Amino acid sequence: MPPSYWLLRHSVVMCLLLHSLVLMTLCFHHAATSCSKRCYCSESEGPAGGKTMRCSNLRLTEIPQDIPNDTRRLYLDYNLLTSIPSNAFQDLPLLAELDLSHNDLAVLEPGAFRGLGASLQFLDLSSNQLSTLDPEAFEGLRARSNLTGNPWHCDCRLQTALPRLDLEPVSLTGIVCQTSEPEDSGAQGVPFLLAKDLDLCVVLKKTTDVAMLVTMFGWFTMVISYLVYYVRHNQEDARRHLEYLKSLPSRQGKSEESSTISTVV
Ligand SMILES: *[C@@H]1O[C@H](CO)[C@@H](O)[C@H](O)[C@H]1NC(C)=O
Ligand SMILES: *[C@@H]1O[C@H](CO)[C@@H](O)[C@H](O)[C@H]1NC(C)=O
Repeated sequence: MPPSYWLLRHSVVMCLLLHSLVLMTLCFHHAATSCSKRCYCSESEGPAGGKTMRCSNLRLTEIPQDIPNDTRRLYLDYNLLTSIPSNAFQDLPLLAELDLSHNDLAVLEPGAFRGLGASLQFLDLSSNQLSTLDPEAFEGLRARSNLTGNPWHCDCRLQTALPRLDLEPVSLTGIVCQTSEPEDSGAQGVPFLLAKDLDLCVVLKKTTDVAMLVTMFGWFTMVISYLVYYVRHNQEDARRHLEYLKSLPSRQGKSEESSTISTVV
């Protein structure tokens, strides 16, 4: 075998290897930018089309960082998420549907859905561990939301939060009180919106009123007792002083007497 032939054959093989390597790199690079590593992606045509990312049932404890910015539907249901941090979805300007159901979400940080106000139409938060709503977490969000299947704690805080939400009003029917403050308010087991004539803040106002009254009464008692003590103490002083004064002229009288006696003598 002439050495030149050997060289030629090997260079051809090398070239082929290099070529496939470049192709593979290109392929992986493409995959990394168009789809999250761990999720299943699909794309559909038409006006309702766009990119769908399915990251369901992956035991995720955090939201994947590599979600492409042209995603329209994102499924993160049946995972182990416990909170949504601020600005979690701010790089997804086309997101129209977000499914966070069947997680362990108890905390939605302020600004959790920031940036989605214009695009998001449906937000599924059902079957989580949410007990209260922070309006700052939902700032500007007008989506329809599924809030069922959460252990809602109905109290004054929740009552004042609801009117501050921009969510589509039908969403709020999903808030069924599991516990309430005060406990005997009759809100338990009832969709909070339908529990008309229920004012959970009045009770709070009443208790603060009572607290104010008790405090004021305490102060009043203290002032009165101090006054009484002061007067008593002064009376004692005055009496002693008076006795002292009373005892003075007689002594003076005696000495005067003795002096006159001495002069007489
Ligand atoms: C996604 O990001 C790329 C590169 O940063 C940018 O050119 C593109 O406009 C973005 N797409 C959307 C829908 O924001
Ligand atoms: C809300 O979620 C629950 C459970 O995830 C589901 O059964 C129900 O159909 C949903 N409701 C709406 C209006 O989507």
